[in-house]
Amino acid sequence: MSLLSRTWGRWERQRRRRRRGGRPLKEDWLPSQYDWIRTQAPGKSFVDVGGLFMRNGEVAFFAEEAGAEPVTCFDVGDPDLCEFAVDRERRGSSVRFVQGNLEDPATVAEIGRHQIVWCTGVIYHTPNPLAQLIQLREITTELLFLGTLTIPEIPGFPHACVYYPYLPEAEREPYAAGPDWGREVPAGLLGIGAPIDETPMRGFGNCWWGISLSALRAMLRSARFEIVEERRIFPSPYLSEIVARPIDADPMLPPQDYFRRRGALREKTGERLVFDRYYDELRAGKIPDIEPG
Ligand SMILES: C[S@@+](CC[C@H](N)C(=O)[O-])C[C@H]1O[C@@H](n2cnc3c(N)ncnc32)[C@H](O)[C@@H]1O
Repeated sequence: MSLLSRTWGRWERQRRRRRRGGRPLKEDWLPSQYDWIRTQAPGKSFVDVGGLFMRNGEVAFFAEEAGAEPVTCFDVGDPDLCEFAVDRERRGSSVRFVQGNLEDPATVAEIGRHQIVWCTGVIYHTPNPLAQLIQLREITTELLFLGTLTIPEIPGFPHACVYYPYLPEAEREPYAAGPDWGREVPAGLLGIGAPIDETPMRGFGNCWWGISLSALRAMLRSARFEIVEERRIFPSPYLSEIVARPIDADPMLPPQDYFRRRGALREKTGERLVFDRYYDELRAGKIPDIEPG
């Protein structure tokens, strides 16, 4: 660990200790999330993205009990390998479960649009956090509640992000010292407290990017969200919660399969798939079905 990062980490911890008087309390943090749901969810469609691990669908069940309808719980995980399936049965709940990868466009279509999208503890588990935010924008019609690990601002380097994989242990220390809201947390964070797990297929278990709040704001904007609220929470600045709403603008990026379909159409007919007005034409139902090959 360099002298600079050690000093910076110590200074940040001291600064947090000094401000503790005015900080929200640790014990208020999670209840304040449920308060938010209680206020916002009644009468709205609600999806919890990444709702299985640690919470077993609890956020979706809570939203349903608070009056949200319909409610979806979405995750890469199997619902019968945790308490979700049994709990849903026991509660007589109608929460729909969708299994898939947030980065898969077909899965996003299956989840469908919801007025309230809840997503906490997910976007640092991927090498592609912006791609996930863009997918979240696809399914959000009113509000996104986003909670994610963040890092303190690095003086002189706004929008800084840190790529965790292969950082030597000493260099990870300042980041691991931050998330201190549970004793088990730093050690359990693969990529931060512990080295990344390189096992094939297990990549989503790792933490990939340390994202500063300034970078997160810019990513949300790039994904076509505007920020409604930045919540003051106990684990800040190592964890941030933002409420955002979608802005009325099409994605900056073409759909993932755009160029494949463009190539197929060109090969077959010599025509070029519309480019600049693509999203307008899509809305107007004017994009042809293009079969590859
Ligand atoms: C750290 S847990 C957070 C759980 C809960 N949302 C919370 O805040 O306590 C991350 C959850 O996201 C899920 N997840 C991670 N990457 C995902 C992806 N690409 N698509 C869907 N779910 C994902 C994991 O299976 C896990 O349930």
